[in-house]
Amino acid sequence: MKSVVIKKSGGPEVLEIEERPIPNSTKNKTVIKIHAFPVHRYEVLTREGGSPSVEFPKVIGIEAVGEVYTPSQESNLEKGRKVVTFMGGLGREFDGSYQEYALVPDNIIYPVTFNGTWIELASYPETFYTAFGALKATRISKGQSLLIRGGTTGVGMAALLLGKALGLSISSTTRQNSRKDLLYTLGASEVILDKDNHIETRKKFDGIIDMVGASTVEDSLAHLKAGGVYTLVGLLTGEWLWKDFDPFNNLANKYATIYDSSNVNSSVVDELFNLINKKQLHIPIAKVFKLDDIQDAQRYVMEKDRPVGQVIVTND
Ligand SMILES: NC(=O)c1ccc[n+]([C@@H]2O[C@H](COP(=O)([O-])OP(=O)(O)OC[C@H]3O[C@@H](n4cnc5c(N)ncnc54)[C@H](OP(=O)(O)O)[C@@H]3O)[C@@H](O)[C@H]2O)c1
Repeated sequence: MKSVVIKKSGGPEVLEIEERPIPNSTKNKTVIKIHAFPVHRYEVLTREGGSPSVEFPKVIGIEAVGEVYTPSQESNLEKGRKVVTFMGGLGREFDGSYQEYALVPDNIIYPVTFNGTWIELASYPETFYTAFGALKATRISKGQSLLIRGGTTGVGMAALLLGKALGLSISSTTRQNSRKDLLYTLGASEVILDKDNHIETRKKFDGIIDMVGASTVEDSLAHLKAGGVYTLVGLLTGEWLWKDFDPFNNLANKYATIYDSSNVNSSVVDELFNLINKKQLHIPIAKVFKLDDIQDAQRYVMEKDRPVGQVIVTND
């Protein structure tokens, strides 16, 4: 099988294809035949050496979709079962999705029902799970207003679709006028321009989900209603610290939290896929690559003006 192995951190050229034997299953680890996986900007950071806990050599990639190839001794999943796997150390502590087969602990394998293609299925797990978790963390309910800052991110678009399905009124942001129509098409009630880290509105919202991060938190909190919840999910500007943050002024009668998708709950995965299937939720797929072109896929995911949507690698 082909595996993309990183031996040391660096540019896209450190993503090297290697021939390896297909692994054997163990007592509690199952071999998955990977049909597709998405490529994420935070995996680019890992490749560059920006994830201190990740030791090389490693096959990175934090999620995959595929079928059970050889079940573990303890698994109750049969060969051929459609599954998704993500987080739980995949592609960080042990070899992940940038390959044709992976040996994966049973506790992070989730059987799913989904009738679309493998490429479509690959656009969901981590992205939609994060969006769903962020919505729950924001403690927002039907009829309330939600601002999604970073509306054209994969997570932002997933939060828009899921939030609409849950009956929220959603305003989404983008820095680019040309992307407003896409967000309206996906169901935003309002699309707000994010210009030089300020959003062009005077409105306040019951909840905010923020993918942009530390540099914009003060501006975001100014748009939160009293009693509202602000959930930080991403740090797209690359700034990790809230500098000069004035909690007494910025947080008066407001609540701030973060959402981190590290701990995946299988019943939430079931709940999520039920909703995806029932409401037929889809976010755009920007481009599909083959495993051999993984270097180009990682370059593409970071391109500034690339089309909005998920970047997927197919093994089929
Ligand atoms: N907490 C968690 O568990 C978790 C899980 C998954 C992802 N994340 C984080 O969530 C964020 C979104 O991830 P993603 O994979 O969904 O992103 P993505 O799809 O790669 O997002 C691309 C979009 O981000 C926007 N963007 C890029 N740089 C920006 C900047 N400096 N300021 C404002 N917007 C910027 C651009 O939109 P416009 O040009 O249209 O404005 C761009 O089209 C990332 O920070 C990621 O690390 C967190």
